[in-house]
Parts: sequence; structure tokens; C-alpha cells
Amino acid sequence: MSALTIGLLGFGTVGKGVYETISKHQGRLQAIFGKEVKVSAILVKNVSKHSVPDDDVLLTDDFQEIIELPKLDVVIDAIVGREPGYTYLRQAILRGCHVITANKEMFAFHGSELARLAKEHNVSLGFEATVGGGIPIIQTIKQLLNANKIERIEGILNGTSNFILTSMREENLSFEEALKIAQEKGYAEADPKNDIEGYDAFFKAVVLSELVFGKAPAQETSVREGITDITIEQIRMADSLGLKFKHVASIEREKDAIRCTVKPVLTAEAHPLYRVEGVQNAVSIDADIVGNISLQGPGAGMFPTASAIIEDLIHVGRTDIPSVFEEGKSEWTVLDEPVWIIW
Ligand code: HSE
Repeated sequence: MSALTIGLLGFGTVGKGVYETISKHQGRLQAIFGKEVKVSAILVKNVSKHSVPDDDVLLTDDFQEIIELPKLDVVIDAIVGREPGYTYLRQAILRGCHVITANKEMFAFHGSELARLAKEHNVSLGFEATVGGGIPIIQTIKQLLNANKIERIEGILNGTSNFILTSMREENLSFEEALKIAQEKGYAEADPKNDIEGYDAFFKAVVLSELVFGKAPAQETSVREGITDITIEQIRMADSLGLKFKHVASIEREKDAIRCTVKPVLTAEAHPLYRVEGVQNAVSIDADIVGNISLQGPGAGMFPTASAIIEDLIHVGRTDIPSVFEEGKSEWTVLDEPVWIIW
């Protein structure tokens, strides 16, 4: 029986994590799919800088070579930035491939269009890895929405920022030292500005807002602040009072609009996010029937992100389980011209 063939876009921390996980857990995947699951091609920026153990994997810097492969079932997007990720995934869907993305920035801007296109072409669109690293937050929300109305979501959505705040407080590291470690550990984005200035958490909040409320947060009331203004002196002062800085995203309905706030918050011991440390993310969901649900887990890193991507991949294989977007109760809306996110 022919293999399930995958085109992997990007071979950085996330791409390598996906490749290694597919190799290491091939037996588990074969049991689910009933056939081999094979990464057939990998898109890289510079072919001479990469190698893979399998000789028959196409390593290329040309997406056209991948999209024109005679057999291509799934495209996994592990690159960053709005483009070329959006264009590549569009092409993949138009060709009839299932697509899976970890690219939160691209998905915050184009998720609704891709969801619509995927539905039209009857392919799966997985985006579990866009929010919360290894926490299965997207599936959990989909499941909750089957019965509940979600009123509010609050959480720590950027692992790098939380790692930096924890390291400054617990290890007495400077901001720069803590950021450097987060980069070495593969938590931070290629451009860590997205992490430390709150853009990454904001993009994730937009994805959650679209998923839960069917629309992006309102421009006029939304706030995006990072952690760059927090000093070690402020952290020590807070510590002496039994308080901790946390970088918190909250998304809630406010009349007919959605208000999203992403900013550092001083938390006391009773606060649900007070004990979330290091690269951990946490999400607290208030829903009308169940009440509060809290999830916590690794928010960034090679294998937590790979885990989320493989969960989406398994949905492609288990045809008895509806794909992640087809179950949605909310109508996806096209985001406005995205300039408003940058303020
Ligand atoms: N840079 C991101 C973070 C990676 O630190 O949360 C996971 O999305």
C-alpha cells in the first residue's frame, strides 16, 4: 500500500521536531493509518546547510518542486511569517492536500480564509500548534463548544516571556541572559521581538477569538503590551510583596465586540496563573455550563509543538473523526486589513 506522503515546510526547531517524531513513532502512526507515514520533501532556505538520514527525502529551496510532486497528501507548515506561508498553504489546499500549520502569525491573519478554502476543497486544516504549544487547546475548545457558550478566556500564551520572567525572578538572570537561553532552547521566535513585545501572544489570542467568538478582537479596545519595560528591580519589589509579574492575554465578549488585552499583570498567590512558571503556558476558560476549565503545559519547544502537529496529522488519518474545523460552531470571518495589529 502506498505511503501517506508529507511535504514539510521549514526545518528549524519545529520542522526537525516533526520529522524526528514521525521517524521515532512510525509504528504508532502506521497502526493508525494502516500504511507508512513518510516525509517525502522538506522545504529549506539553504539546501547546503541541511541533511536528513533518509536519502530519498527531497530537500529543496523551491516550493514548486514540492507542490508538483506526483503524490502529496499532507503539507505541514513549520515556517514563520505571513508570507510565503499563506500562499503555500493556499496552493496546497487547491491541489487537494490536507494542511497543518504551526504558523500563528499567518493564521491570525488568514485562518478564516484558509478554513473556508479547506472546506470548499474537502480537506483538513489543522492548527492545534498555533496556540499553547503542546496543550491541546484547540481540540478542547472545539469539544467544549459542542455544548457550551464560552464567555471568557485568559491565559499565558507565550512561553518565552514566561520563561524570561521566571528566570529573572528565580535565577536572578538579566532580561538579556534569560532571552538568550530561551533562544538556545528553541522557545523564542527567529525574531524574538514577537515574543517579548507581545505580538506572538496577540496573534494567538486572535486565533482563539476567531475560534470561540467567530470574529477577531475589536481594534479600538484591544491592547498589546510586551514585557520589555519590566525591570529586575520591579520584579524584586513585587517578589518582596509576594507578587509575580505574568504576561496575560484575556479575550472576552463586550456587548457585540470582542475585547482582547495582552499585557503584564501583577498576580497574587490566589491568581490561577501565579504558579505557571518557565516555558509553561496555561489557559483558563469560562464556559456557561461547565464553569471554569484550566489547562497547563509546555508552551513552546521542539517536541511539544511537534506533538500538537502530529495530533492534527492523526485527524487526517482517522476519517471517522471529523476534522478540526468542520465541527466548529462559530462562523469564521475574514479579518480586516491587518495593519491595525501593529500599534
Ligand atoms: N515563541 C513561541 C513562544 C513559540 O515562546 O511561545 C510557541 O508558539
